Amino acid sequence: MQNAPRESSWRVQLQACMQIPKSRPYYTGWPHDRFVMSPAFFALIPAAGAGARAGSAVPKQYAPLLGKPMLLHTLAAFGAVPGIAAIHVVVSKEEAWLETLGGSAFPEHCQIHRVGGTTRAQSVLNGLKAIEAKPDDWVLVHDAARPCITPAMIEGLIAALKDDEVGGLLAIPVPDTVKRADSAGRVAETISREGLWLAQTPQMFRYGVLREALQRFPDVTDEAGAIERMGLKPKLVQGDARNIKATYPADFALAEAYLKAP
Ligand code: CTP
Ligand code: MG
Repeated sequence: MQNAPRESSWRVQLQACMQIPKSRPYYTGWPHDRFVMSPAFFALIPAAGAGARAGSAVPKQYAPLLGKPMLLHTLAAFGAVPGIAAIHVVVSKEEAWLETLGGSAFPEHCQIHRVGGTTRAQSVLNGLKAIEAKPDDWVLVHDAARPCITPAMIEGLIAALKDDEVGGLLAIPVPDTVKRADSAGRVAETISREGLWLAQTPQMFRYGVLREALQRFPDVTDEAGAIERMGLKPKLVQGDARNIKATYPADFALAEAYLKAP
């Protein structure tokens, strides 16, 4: 390889020792090598929902918060975590909003997959199938609609779980008194909040187990639910009340307030 560019030899060595895949068509730029750890940490961001409850003019993940689309706030937080090797975003097949954001706004190690499904779980499973990962790699699944996530929250989750057998999720203890309603909308019972937690994202599990779990149990509303159905016990990691999911119109003003003063 007399005429090969000098960098090719270091690239081969780096690929060999740092386990960087030989072809990485999903990276938007080169060079920008992150040191890919083994196991690697990937982010997977489901962003293929319609946002029906938010009632915004565009799907909520593209609605502006402080003048910037919600999805870009979410991606910026993951983009600022050095240990994340790649950020995979799942959007719906037909949507046209993505183009309006401009490619340069995305972190360079971000790849878009147009494989959204009819449910969140299906979008996540389709995303897992679209990415190149080893069974032991960690995947942090995070709702595009939780834009107030911070790098510190993500790093806290990774630190808490990187040596865990199963993985787990950010969650917060239920702060309010909980009531169960009867069919007439009256209180049927008060439920003790002892031991009750509200699940958030990111939810962090090994690629192989998570893929199998979602394949077998697609009727779940979060990744932990599928892992539980496999007979495993995800770890609850104390999250932050500011990591809200923008669901209803009123949530947008709250999200902006948190983004202003994180
Ligand atoms: N999501 C997805 N694919 C779906 C449904 C949801 O990727 N088929 C994503 C959303 O884009 C969001 C996250 O999953 O980032 C959490 O879902 P949710 O808050 O319920 O968003 P929507 O489904 O878009 O909202 P709604 O239920 O009000 O329609
Ligand atoms: Mg939904």
